[in-house]
Amino acid sequence: MKTLRIGQLGCGIVGSAVLRLLDHNSYDIAQRVGANLDVAKIAVRTLSKERDIPGGMTSHLTTDPHEVVTDPAVDIVVEVMGGIEPTRALLLEAIDNGKHIVTANKELLASLGAELFDAAEAKGVDLYFEAAVAGGIPLIRPLRESLAGERIRKVMGIVNGTTNFILTRMSEEGCSFAEALGEAERLGYTELDPTADIEGFDPAAKAAILASLAFNTRVVSGDVYREGIADITAQDIAFAKRLGYTVKLLAIAEQQDGEIAVRVHPAMIPNEHPLASVRDNLNAVFVEGESVGELMFYGRGAGGGPTGTSVVGDIIDIARNMLSGGRGPGMYTYADSPIRNIEAMYSQYYILLDVADQPGVLAAVASAFGGNNVSIRSVWQEGTGDQAQLVMITHRALERDLQATLGALRDLPEVTKITSVMRVEGGET
Ligand SMILES: NC(=O)c1ccc[n+]([C@@H]2O[C@H](COP(=O)([O-])OP(=O)(O)OC[C@H]3O[C@@H](n4cnc5c(N)ncnc54)[C@H](OP(=O)(O)O)[C@@H]3O)[C@@H](O)[C@H]2O)c1
Repeated sequence: MKTLRIGQLGCGIVGSAVLRLLDHNSYDIAQRVGANLDVAKIAVRTLSKERDIPGGMTSHLTTDPHEVVTDPAVDIVVEVMGGIEPTRALLLEAIDNGKHIVTANKELLASLGAELFDAAEAKGVDLYFEAAVAGGIPLIRPLRESLAGERIRKVMGIVNGTTNFILTRMSEEGCSFAEALGEAERLGYTELDPTADIEGFDPAAKAAILASLAFNTRVVSGDVYREGIADITAQDIAFAKRLGYTVKLLAIAEQQDGEIAVRVHPAMIPNEHPLASVRDNLNAVFVEGESVGELMFYGRGAGGGPTGTSVVGDIIDIARNMLSGGRGPGMYTYADSPIRNIEAMYSQYYILLDVADQPGVLAAVASAFGGNNVSIRSVWQEGTGDQAQLVMITHRALERDLQATLGALRDLPEVTKITSVMRVEGGET
């Protein structure tokens, strides 16, 4: 049986899981591929670190990543070290040396992916990245292959486990954002610096990759409108519940009037929507296609085992391509659709206003909405006197019109404070 050789950049949470899987399932993998997959070199930062990897592999460790990407014996380079540089330069070097690539690096792909995909195309090598979005959930392959004949309308998902855990705790235990974040930290669900999760940078990178795939257009992280979850209050969650909604941090990519609208923000979704029941640190992505209808992909979006499984699946695909002399699908960006500015995007909105409890308030508020083309779907008053609040849900409206409405509301003497504004998704289209 032929032997194909793997060189790996990184041996941390994901990298060590990949090595364990390759070792543990080596017989089945060899039978399914028709070749043995051998790990030849593994680059790390620190040789002395203790690692949970198969004993025989320790001798392949090196602190020189160039050894991995230049070794003539290496056929496939697996990049699980993360970061932008030197990772980008190393992958370009690997491609230049004719190596096929598997990467889990969403940050790199969503910022400088075009350079890598172009280089891989020019060199005729494969570049696979199933693990870069939603860890263990097969999503890239279904979008690139199973749905290649479909016209996708919308991709909407929960693609960050940490923030989903925090929102689940806030919803189920009624605790504050800070308390829920503290619990996530205690359980080891957060990065050392949780900013990328909390502020939505991590899901924005994933949204860019998903939008590029779904709409065959180059979308980078910087194109994605982004809001995090730090301002969500226990009161927002409580009102959402009473209205029959659940608050989630959503990554959304959709076609709006021939343009690509891509964004990450917290949103209220109806409790009956399949994404509403995705709890704790689980991920799920909801795909709407013109012919296929609605699909949902659900599972573990992070962790060594789940993410490693996606990486190994990619290695196997590439190995099969190598044996058959073929290539896998590329990153097709022929559509080159315009990216829509947030001002021109449509959504429904939930708005919570502190108001004076006096006659004529509702009429004044309604005219601020009507005068700016935002139509109110439902409204009711909470409390009385100093505590009076108006809770409103709009029909689908343009963001720019909503912002103009908020400006008009701020000018009204009857409105003491705009306490909260949140988008509502998964309802009207
Ligand atoms: N963790 C997840 O659940 C998950 C899920 C999906 C995608 N990903 C992506 O997978 C990638 C890896 O994540 P991870 O969680 O496995 O990271 P990690 O645990 O921090 O591992 C990183 C590995 O890369 C090595 N490394 C870093 N810089 C290096 C350099 N300059 N030269 C040589 N080796 C270097 C480190 O070496 P030392 O061990 O010596 O420090 C370590 O082994 C990232 O792109 C991440 O976004 C991770």
